[in-house]
Amino acid sequence: MALATRTDRRPSTTRTLWDSTVGKKTVMAVSGLIMLGYLVAHMYGNLKIFFGLGAFNDYAHWLRTLGEPLLHYEWALWIIRVVLVAAVVLHGVCAYQLSRRDIAARPNKYVHKRPRASYATRTMRWGGIILALFIVWHILDLTTGTVHSGFQPGHPYQNVLETFSTWYGNVIYIVAMLALGLHVRHGFWSAAQTLGVGSAARDRVLKGTANLLALVLTAGFIAVPVAVMTGVVS
Ligand code: HEM
Repeated sequence: MALATRTDRRPSTTRTLWDSTVGKKTVMAVSGLIMLGYLVAHMYGNLKIFFGLGAFNDYAHWLRTLGEPLLHYEWALWIIRVVLVAAVVLHGVCAYQLSRRDIAARPNKYVHKRPRASYATRTMRWGGIILALFIVWHILDLTTGTVHSGFQPGHPYQNVLETFSTWYGNVIYIVAMLALGLHVRHGFWSAAQTLGVGSAARDRVLKGTANLLALVLTAGFIAVPVAVMTGVVS
């Protein structure tokens, strides 16, 4: 009887994995790769702005009719939104918990001055915070229009042009895109290590891929505000 009780109390495999550092790092790696996939698609879609008002607004309309007639209007978009929100929340929660663990595990925690986290760790933490704030601003700006005066629902081309006609719009987006580049560069590399893809032979390729991804994403996203500022897109 006593044995049965002890067995009953054993935590489930999912629970054990969630509580472990390696489990949390795996959740961060997988959720990060999901967000990365979205970002590559989003950056590609944004570049349609160079093909004019019709192409950009048609693309936004296509996003809403994706999967029809099997799926109803905006269903596919809502599925993407739910997956993304889950990925953002899991990524953020695990990052927070891992950083608490990291601080608690430092040997000289009773000494007044704690050793500083490494440059990469600090960049990832601050980058993550900047990106989380940016995502909230970005949705209020270009999806709901809450912080965007003159927002026109269903007219993303005009809305993007308006966002980048203000100095603060350009500053917010360009700073966030630079933070994104640094975050992706280190995050992709870390995810590969966590998922066990790294090896002495592959590390050069992985580092090269991380650099290329970060560069393409940053340049692709920044191309839009730069094009509006310089009048290439008007
Ligand atoms: C210059 C850079 C960017 C531009 C011009 C841009 C443009 C847009 C536009 C126009 C929309 C609204 C689409 C629509 O309603 O059809 C949108 C939505 C969104 N963007 Fe961006 N975006 C940029 C960067 C980013 C970045 C870096 C992220 C993530 C870190 C991001 C995440 C999102 C999300 C989550 C949505 C909401 C999608 C939805 O649920 O409707 N965007 N973006």
